[in-house]
Amino acid sequence: MPKTNFEIKNIRKDFPILSRKIRGKQLIYFDSAATSQKPKQVIEAMEDYYKNHNANIHRSIHTLGEEATEAYEKAHEKVADFINAGSYQNIVFTKNTTESLNLLAYSLTADLKKGDEIVISQMEHHSNLVPWQQLAKQRGLKLEFIKIDEEGKLDEESINESITKKTKIVSIMHVSNVLGTINDIKKIGNIAHENNALMVVDGAQSIPHMPVDVKKIDADFYAFSGHKMLGPTGIGVLYGKRELLENMQPFLYGGEMIREVKFEDTKFNDLPWKFEAGTMNIAEAVGLDAAIDYLKKIGMENIQKKDKELTNYTFEKLKEIKDVKIYGPKERGAVVSFNVDEIHAHDVSQILDSEGIAIRAGHHCCMPLMGVLKAHAAARASFYFYNTKDEIDKFANALGKVKKVFRV
Ligand SMILES: Cc1ncc(COP(=O)(O)O)c(C=O)c1O
Repeated sequence: MPKTNFEIKNIRKDFPILSRKIRGKQLIYFDSAATSQKPKQVIEAMEDYYKNHNANIHRSIHTLGEEATEAYEKAHEKVADFINAGSYQNIVFTKNTTESLNLLAYSLTADLKKGDEIVISQMEHHSNLVPWQQLAKQRGLKLEFIKIDEEGKLDEESINESITKKTKIVSIMHVSNVLGTINDIKKIGNIAHENNALMVVDGAQSIPHMPVDVKKIDADFYAFSGHKMLGPTGIGVLYGKRELLENMQPFLYGGEMIREVKFEDTKFNDLPWKFEAGTMNIAEAVGLDAAIDYLKKIGMENIQKKDKELTNYTFEKLKEIKDVKIYGPKERGAVVSFNVDEIHAHDVSQILDSEGIAIRAGHHCCMPLMGVLKAHAAARASFYFYNTKDEIDKFANALGKVKKVFRV
């Protein structure tokens, strides 16, 4: 494990918002799966960009234009290195995970014909379900769902039954935002490849929390968002294998993504610019670059270890409270979704908020999964390396208070 200054007091000082008070109480932020908080290094990098380097990219020959272009291109290289993508040309910047997956659902369609199948799973986030569902409806394709088992893992038998020679695309989340399940996407990808299907991975909840090597996983595409990994909102990433990206039609057309335009036809730009139409999210790319520097400084293995400590501790604490149902397996990512007896998750969240504790409640953009779990909603505490066991103690005490308020 790399040595690091994992001194929690120092880390927390880097996140200005963590010293905020909510309703007179110290903020406890347990909603990092929705979006992470941002260290001052990211905020300052973006401020510096706007104060000192702001210009449009890939067009202005002046110094500022060159500086902005260099910063934007460097961010592609930083991301490529972070996930071992090989080259910046395999890294397309988008708005978020949702746009990355939509890009695929629009652009990966050339070889699809009626009756072909796309395989996803019952635990997918809407952003990895609705684009494929709508594509299937428009093109007469069949959408297959890998089932989940009692524990909240993907059912082995269902994986083998769902992926067949008819399958053209398999698209699965790496880590579930509700169940915390860490899916064996390399194994699923192998099955997809044995059947000549493409493997797409929704990495929104994995990239912020564990080392990811897209080559080792052998993913064909890997999608994620900057804002869940300390970066700003408004920037997402789509990694793709070079030959696949080369052969895909662009998703958005216009300026920047072109090499030559005539009235009759257009030659598209090189990768990755072919997929980056119009003025892009330049300051956000600078912020993402700084976020990756910060994550690397902490060390992804250290983050993973800290996540494990926090989630295991939460399990212990919640077990002490009667009538708390936790969803998903024990071995998991940094989310713990639960319900407290008959109390609605929104009520749980509201009372916790009065104690300064921010959790999420609802269907977590996984309505079909909630149906499978037979729950209308769930409360979710999600952690990051800036959280502490002391905060979890306060959270568990506050849950006791929720039960008292509702007299259960
Ligand atoms: C597993 C998963 N996939 C996709 C998304 C969508 O991310 P975004 O809203 O940044 O596009 C989320 C967001 O919560 C998620 O948790």
